[in-house]
Amino acid sequence: MLFVCSFLFFISRLAATQNTITPGQSMRDNETLISADGSFELGFFSPGNARSRYLGVWYKKVSSRTIVWVANKETPILTKSGALRLDNKGNLILRNGKDGVVWSSNNTSRTQQNPVAKLLDSGNLIVRDGKDNMLWQSFDYPSDTMLPGMKLGRNLATGLNWFLTTWKNSNNPAPGEFSFWIDPRGFPQLVITSRTAIRFRLGSWNGLQFTGTPQVRQNPLYNFQFVSNQHEIYYTYELQNNSVASRVVLNETGILQRYVWIDRTQIWNLFFTVPIDQCDSYAFCGANAICNIGSYPVCACLEGFVPKSPSDWKQADWLDGCVRRTKLDCHSGDGFWKLTGLKLPDTSSSMVNESLSLKECKALCLRNCSCVACANSDARGVGSGCLLWFDKLTDIRHFVEGGQDLYIRMAASELAWIEAKKKSNERKKDAVVVSCLIFIMGMLMSTLLFYMRKQKQGMRNHDDMKDYDKDSAMEEMELPIFDLVIVKNATNNFSRNNKLGEGGFGPVFKGTLLDGQEIAVKRLSETSRQGREEFKNEVKLIAKLQHRNLVKLLGCCIEGEEKLLIYEYMPNKSLDFFTFDKTRCKLLDWHRRFHIIEGIARGLLYLHQDSRLRIIHRDLKVSNILLDSDMNPKISDFGLARTFGREQSPTNTNRVVGTYGYMPPEYAIDGLFSVKSDVFSFGVIILEIVSGKRNRGFSLGGLGHNLLGYAWRLWVKGRPLELIDNSLYDSCGPSQVLRCIQVGLLCVQQLPEDRPNMSTVVLMLVSDTFLPQPKQPGFYTERNPYEAESSSRKESNYSGNEITTTIIDPR
Ligand SMILES: *[C@@H]1O[C@H](CO)[C@@H](O)[C@H](O)[C@H]1NC(C)=O
Ligand SMILES: *[C@@H]1O[C@H](CO)[C@@H](O)[C@H](O)[C@H]1NC(C)=O
Ligand SMILES: *[C@@H]1O[C@H](CO)[C@@H](O)[C@H](O)[C@H]1NC(C)=O
Ligand SMILES: *[C@@H]1O[C@H](CO)[C@@H](O)[C@H](O)[C@H]1NC(C)=O
Ligand SMILES: *[C@@H]1O[C@H](CO)[C@@H](O)[C@H](O)[C@H]1NC(C)=O
Ligand SMILES: *[C@@H]1O[C@H](CO)[C@@H](O)[C@H](O)[C@H]1NC(C)=O
Ligand SMILES: *[C@@H]1O[C@H](CO)[C@@H](O)[C@H](O)[C@H]1NC(C)=O
Repeated sequence: MLFVCSFLFFISRLAATQNTITPGQSMRDNETLISADGSFELGFFSPGNARSRYLGVWYKKVSSRTIVWVANKETPILTKSGALRLDNKGNLILRNGKDGVVWSSNNTSRTQQNPVAKLLDSGNLIVRDGKDNMLWQSFDYPSDTMLPGMKLGRNLATGLNWFLTTWKNSNNPAPGEFSFWIDPRGFPQLVITSRTAIRFRLGSWNGLQFTGTPQVRQNPLYNFQFVSNQHEIYYTYELQNNSVASRVVLNETGILQRYVWIDRTQIWNLFFTVPIDQCDSYAFCGANAICNIGSYPVCACLEGFVPKSPSDWKQADWLDGCVRRTKLDCHSGDGFWKLTGLKLPDTSSSMVNESLSLKECKALCLRNCSCVACANSDARGVGSGCLLWFDKLTDIRHFVEGGQDLYIRMAASELAWIEAKKKSNERKKDAVVVSCLIFIMGMLMSTLLFYMRKQKQGMRNHDDMKDYDKDSAMEEMELPIFDLVIVKNATNNFSRNNKLGEGGFGPVFKGTLLDGQEIAVKRLSETSRQGREEFKNEVKLIAKLQHRNLVKLLGCCIEGEEKLLIYEYMPNKSLDFFTFDKTRCKLLDWHRRFHIIEGIARGLLYLHQDSRLRIIHRDLKVSNILLDSDMNPKISDFGLARTFGREQSPTNTNRVVGTYGYMPPEYAIDGLFSVKSDVFSFGVIILEIVSGKRNRGFSLGGLGHNLLGYAWRLWVKGRPLELIDNSLYDSCGPSQVLRCIQVGLLCVQQLPEDRPNMSTVVLMLVSDTFLPQPKQPGFYTERNPYEAESSSRKESNYSGNEITTTIIDPR
């Protein structure tokens, strides 16, 4: 036995656990180096189903071999005769048998004192001399994978360029079509390119994040850092806990993905992926246009710009982009229009000065005729630093969360026009008078400016620069006021036959306008709890909201006692009409149901995270989800919604409104509500859609559980698929249903802070991101605290399962 062991030791020049090579030693095809803690392994491998051999580094503990670095990318060894050696100059040399050098690490010509090559625990293969000076490291020559501690960017002193390149395909690690690198021109930005063309811009660093990827932000998994100084520009990240493995990889199709290794399941979970949608395609909308994935069509010209070729634009050919409606004036009188919530335009030809304030920045921009826009380069705090654009503004998109402000330079007359248009929307009393006013104002303005310019000529001074910053008018819209007579005609004088149903605040009628358009009219009953205030609230709110998953308000009518809201008509009624009906539920196969779940999620995300308003619906339920002719879901009934400034957090109310079965515990009991209350209701809706059963009034074998409790018990027992509606078995893919159930359970967790927010929910639904394990849901037994103990202090118009309930808490 002893003999066998010592025999093996002598013929293998590398011991099994060795992590270094010293001059004179060589590592053959059948031998490997393993890093000290056993995380990484260096050796020869054959990728995919190729037979040729490559030298590379992979994760030791990951069973499905995951290569993170390749040495001889373009020079495979065709036999198993490869051997890696370190010479006494500190060069790693890979030979193919006795033939010749296949690859070598870059060579130092000087003989080094005791050089040694070592595979570190980070996956970095390094060569250093006896005095611990680094001679070479594999992290300087990445393949398609960025490991923690690696740098992506440039060393301006040595000219070293750290970037990722895709493999040609899974059998061939030679450099492929796509690269991920830092474009150092102008204001440095991270880009993914295909050969030389930019495909996706992660964007420039604004102190908090990359402007085009709010996905890369503070998170419990890793910390990241962007460094830019005279010597280096780079992006790097470190894991918060090194017991987890995580990598960023640029896959063959140019998609950048972050994976996390889950020991328990032995698989790589996807953490995030970019680019994600068409708005991420570089310059998708052409120049001077903005891409907004929540609007339809997705491309729109910037305020003050018009399509360059209008006919193409109408046909969704956006390539040509937009041009200014009014030329810049250049000498004086120009101002700025502020847009919010954006991915800033391409900065490759921008100028930056980190020491200027926004005001100085604007003044600097006005001083140069070719400057077209400016923004803060640093978005921390109130913002600082100055970024200037001199040409077209390309690749702008709108974000619901995490976007920046951009100031677009505009001629004074254009600004006056936009302002006037905005004001006219605010006072929509008499359109004629307003347009006359606009005209007169415009005339006055230009006359005034003309004289001002004459006077100021030669004064070279911009202290009198007008600050025209105003919020963007993007979301403003005009709300028509309907005549009572017209509405009465359309609905047959609110005839019984036209009645569609009874909402929480009064009946809803179907109507047909003279031009044939079908409408739904919500008539607020006199006894309704929705007073004038709520009515105004609803009107103001909905008028501002435009999203394909929100029901569209066409207008309103207030005359005497009548308060009417006129909506687009939804031919397919509401979701409960289908889900809870034994026969109609068959019309909703899994594909449709998932489409509906996704739509509701997107609508809710828009409500919660729209850049200017934060709206909490507070009465989300299946009967408030309407369906259009194509079965697209539309959220309705905003009478109870509340808006919040962006910074506000959970709020206490002493008037609890909502619907039993959909209210989370912290709201029903303590009156505390936040966006997480809607998330709870949304979770209930998912589970109801999946199961075809109502949460409230659910009973199964008298166990005292509601639907949430039932779903939870099945989950804990590992039989979640038993929850699904019988009519779905044929149409559903189990993994997607399972995902929905898990997301549903995550949404209804007891503690609001455990529930995900809607952007996470949308991500969870539509991608393969890792899902955490849900904790016990709130209200998981049927007993509702109010029914049990406080019937005396509740004042309610509760009269059935689906009727909105108002509870006045006497505190
Ligand atoms: C590796 O292969 C060589 C022949 O190429 C052989 O002599 C040696 O025993 C092998 N080593 C191991 C550890 O299998
Ligand atoms: C060696 O250096 C040259 C030029 O400095 C560079 O082109 C080449 O890619 C380097 N090779 C390796 C393996 O580092
Ligand atoms: C590196 O190696 C190449 C040949 O592979 C040689 O031409 C070159 O002079 C070497 N550079 C140095 C600095 O030794
Ligand atoms: C890292 O994770 C491991 C296992 O999940 C845990 O035991 C350890 O406490 C964590 N370490 C830190 C510093 O969080
Ligand atoms: C690259 O990523 C995309 C998005 O996740 C995926 O659809 C595609 O299959 C991936 N390609 C490869 C070769 O893994
Ligand atoms: C930035 O602006 C300040 C003030 O105008 C100026 O002194 C400084 O030189 C500028 N820096 C650069 C890099 O242009
Ligand atoms: C305006 O800025 C551009 C771009 O930096 C520069 O080339 C040009 O010389 C500037 N013009 C003036 C008048 O300063």
